[in-house]
Amino acid sequence: MPGNSARSAVLMPLSGPPPNAPAALRPLYEVDDTFVPLYETIADCPNCPLARNRSRTVPGSGPITAELMFVGEAPGQREDELGLPFVGRSGQFLDELLAGIDLTRREVYVTNVVKCRPPDNRDPEFAEIEACGDYLEQQIELINPRVIATLGRFSMARWFPDGRISRIHGQSKRIDERYVIPMYHPAAALRNGSLRDVMHADFAKIPALLRGDPLPQATPPAPQPQAVAPPSAPVEQTERLL
Ligand code: URA
Repeated sequence: MPGNSARSAVLMPLSGPPPNAPAALRPLYEVDDTFVPLYETIADCPNCPLARNRSRTVPGSGPITAELMFVGEAPGQREDELGLPFVGRSGQFLDELLAGIDLTRREVYVTNVVKCRPPDNRDPEFAEIEACGDYLEQQIELINPRVIATLGRFSMARWFPDGRISRIHGQSKRIDERYVIPMYHPAAALRNGSLRDVMHADFAKIPALLRGDPLPQATPPAPQPQAVAPPSAPVEQTERLL
């Protein structure tokens, strides 16, 4: 995906990377200046209680020209420290998945439905997702990606409110002028190794979507993950872990 070298970049968060930021991540702090007003608003956001305990807001990373956008759940501890999304173990697996389709983090845009870390890495609450909803909307408008891949059930629910991730992962849908494809959250594959291959198979569908080719309708069902909860656990309980 060609970048536009004529664009001017500034550092994000706007004060720059913290001193402990690994050198390899420093390029991810470069932000197109079109993002600056939005990132400044997010950095000062008081709209929900998560603002009280954050170290840094985590608006997103990647070029404004990205054709592929990922929307995850919420920052964890490492993301809160560094102000960048997906820089912990889930992020390492996301990098591996991207490498599998010849992409790098510098070519894609990555964000979350919630821009501040929930305490103890709990699930984001409905009101928190709502409070951040307009930020995500503005990011989609600014980037105008060809493809949005949701990571996990919280971002999936924005486009597929009645969807169940174990049924619809890897199945793209044309929504407005782009494709949206729900994926498992990388953390689910770290907890349940059988999902790793499922995620690689789902990611392998992305290049065709970027080219604008609809996926064949009769895609054979991907292998289903083995339950990570006890066999007697209700489906909802197993899904919660995804
Ligand atoms: N999990 C997410 O959903 N987002 C992050 O940024 C990190 C982990």
